[in-house]
Amino acid sequence: MKKSRFKITKNVLLFWCLFIGLGAMLGGVCMLIEPSGSILHMEAMIDYFQVLPFADVLFQNYIFSGIALIIVNGLSNLVASTLILFKMRAGLYLGMIFGFTLMLWIIIQFVIFPPNFLSTVYFIFGVLQFLTGYMAITFYKQEIFSINEDAYTNINENKDTLVLYFSRMGYTKKLAYEIVDAKGATIYEVKATEKIDGTLGFWWCGRFGMNKLDMGIEELNLDVKEYENVIIVSPIWVFDVASPIRTLCKKLSGQIKNVSYVTCHYMKAEFNKVSEYLDGLLNVKHKNYKSVCCRKGKYLTKTLWKEF
Ligand SMILES: Cc1cc2nc3c(=O)[nH]c(=O)nc-3n(C[C@H](O)[C@H](O)[C@H](O)COP(=O)(O)O)c2cc1C
Repeated sequence: MKKSRFKITKNVLLFWCLFIGLGAMLGGVCMLIEPSGSILHMEAMIDYFQVLPFADVLFQNYIFSGIALIIVNGLSNLVASTLILFKMRAGLYLGMIFGFTLMLWIIIQFVIFPPNFLSTVYFIFGVLQFLTGYMAITFYKQEIFSINEDAYTNINENKDTLVLYFSRMGYTKKLAYEIVDAKGATIYEVKATEKIDGTLGFWWCGRFGMNKLDMGIEELNLDVKEYENVIIVSPIWVFDVASPIRTLCKKLSGQIKNVSYVTCHYMKAEFNKVSEYLDGLLNVKHKNYKSVCCRKGKYLTKTLWKEF
């Protein structure tokens, strides 16, 4: 069974929320039980707090600090942990935000305390908690993204137009289905022969993208010359066309009469140069080009594909 990256990062985030939350509760309660800070051996450190605003009222002992610690880092993280345990999505967002709050808390410590190991380590914990939260949210959105191929009923109606697509995560695939459905076109998936899924697959694709390498593709079981119009739909990899589409276009050089391109990418950019690059590989001048920004399964560019 495929490992869920969401479940792994969600559990790590839960660990951070519980670890920081319980630690802060413990520290805060110790400060309230003994406001001099003696339980935590912090009596001498109260001097450093005197540079803070309202220090003469708030920081003559550890009562205010204890309450603040319990609220800002303790209860907050325990609420996030509870929401995560009850499978509520808000827990992921809160867990991420409280990683950021911890960083802010430690920045105050950086300002008022001399350099010390504990503050540095907890700042790193805050960074890790924030990043884990961000990853959990991203993986969650990736894993709930799905395509209902049966919902597209207008497929293969028009035998003139062919949509060729490659997709790693499914975002370009959904786009290709939208186009095919609008045009009644024929759809064909270009498949890579390399391992491209998961985290390792991402880095492997990155290697191909960075070095503009051709990636092996499975043999095509169709003749593109039979189609009047071909629409090539590709994700963007490292500011360029995805490597399997580069390979495809080299293979199809001189075989396509009328071509249009659609690119699918994360950044809000047009990637216009990609269309010229593909023209060069295919030895043809494209009719249309459209770039679509897609973020975690949400398409931010709206297009009337019927008119494309
Ligand atoms: C190796 C790699 C490199 C990428 N580089 C870019 C990039 O330079 N610019 C960008 O906007 N998106 C980039 N992306 C994001 C993809 O273009 C985007 O997530 C796209 O929607 C993925 O489509 P898919 O789900 O069909 O594979 C990259 C993705 C991968 C895997």
